[in-house]
Amino acid sequence: MTDYRDETLDVSSFAIDDCEQLLKSFNIHFPSTDAYMDLVDGILHIYLCQLDISKFEEFLALLEIDKALKDAVFNVINNIGSYGLRGSKRHFSGYNAERKVSNRKVKEQNRGKHYYANDNSFSKDNNSLPFEFENKIVCADSLEVLKKLPDNCVDIIFTSPPYNFGLEYDTHNDTASWNSYYDMLFNIFNECIRVLKYGGRFIVNVQPLYSDYIPSHHIISNFFIENKMIWKGEILWEKNNYNCKMCSYGSWKSPASPYLKYTWEFIEIYCKGNLKKAGKTVDADITAEEFKSWVVAKWSIAPERHMKEFGHPAMFPEGLVERVLKLFSFKNDLVLDPFNGAGTTTVVAKKTGRRYLGIDISKEYCDTAEKRIKEFDNCQQMTLGF
Ligand SMILES: C[S@@+](CC[C@H](N)C(=O)[O-])C[C@H]1O[C@@H](n2cnc3c(N)ncnc32)[C@H](O)[C@@H]1O
Repeated sequence: MTDYRDETLDVSSFAIDDCEQLLKSFNIHFPSTDAYMDLVDGILHIYLCQLDISKFEEFLALLEIDKALKDAVFNVINNIGSYGLRGSKRHFSGYNAERKVSNRKVKEQNRGKHYYANDNSFSKDNNSLPFEFENKIVCADSLEVLKKLPDNCVDIIFTSPPYNFGLEYDTHNDTASWNSYYDMLFNIFNECIRVLKYGGRFIVNVQPLYSDYIPSHHIISNFFIENKMIWKGEILWEKNNYNCKMCSYGSWKSPASPYLKYTWEFIEIYCKGNLKKAGKTVDADITAEEFKSWVVAKWSIAPERHMKEFGHPAMFPEGLVERVLKLFSFKNDLVLDPFNGAGTTTVVAKKTGRRYLGIDISKEYCDTAEKRIKEFDNCQQMTLGF
């Protein structure tokens, strides 16, 4: 007897004719021993044994139905993380028998998945962000602003804090003692965790201070783990730039003390309470190609080239923010950047149909952030002919 994996998709918001055409064509096109579909009370059931994803994509491309429905169905199947491969087909059931580790689930249970975060006391009751903070750039100390927000009201946080490298910021002093630097940072991060929704994501770009042997990415990760956040993973942002082209090799040609050089930064991803984030399938705006490419956690993206123009010394490139937001959040989600600088997170949030709150202590940077959003709004209006 064929063993199927049952995936479901709520299709009640799509035209019934489109759903029926999809189901009928799918069941004719693919042998029922591989996969078949059923529609019950607005819920599409996709029974999967094995499927060639490229053939499925070709099949969808030829169907004349709502593209959003095609995308939603494709995402359901393509996003299934656990499958085996035989030839060009993905196997959705029975593949465990071939795995080298038997009884995987029991072993996982015995070991304890993300054991360090399981006794958290996070509330599951999420709230809305007060209206006066929605789609706003606020010029103030983040700690003061965040204290005014209710618990559990933000979907995703993406930020790069100042790293205490001695950069020339407008107002922030970037050379504090390490203890006072981490006190400042973790006071703000504690508030960020509080305002993050249950199931929300806290994503931090960190660059260690290699020259002083300060592993900031580990220190920040320890903080998250001590605060019961679940580590979802780590992205290596390959910038392909030697930020110290001329700097020393340490002990030249001797193992006494060679100096390591890096061309990348880290992006640490933590979740509050649950690895799975709530959101509607229709609000997922990542394409199949983007998804396949971006889940490979080494991202080659050049640093921002226009920092001088924007007058900020340490900006995100827009492409980096776009990947983070599309891979880890849904459209309409509320995005917070508590160290918003020249506003790259907030302008990309706006461009990708998310809501935002950006906070920075510098008036000059906040003005730049506002200007970028206005420029985008003006472009939009011109395109729409207003
Ligand atoms: C690395 S930059 C962020 C740049 C930003 N990602 C961008 O693309 O423009 C860090 C920012 O934190 C701001 N900052 C430092 N201390 C702050 C605080 N207590 N509250 C709010 N912002 C702060 C600085 O003014 C600086 O713009």
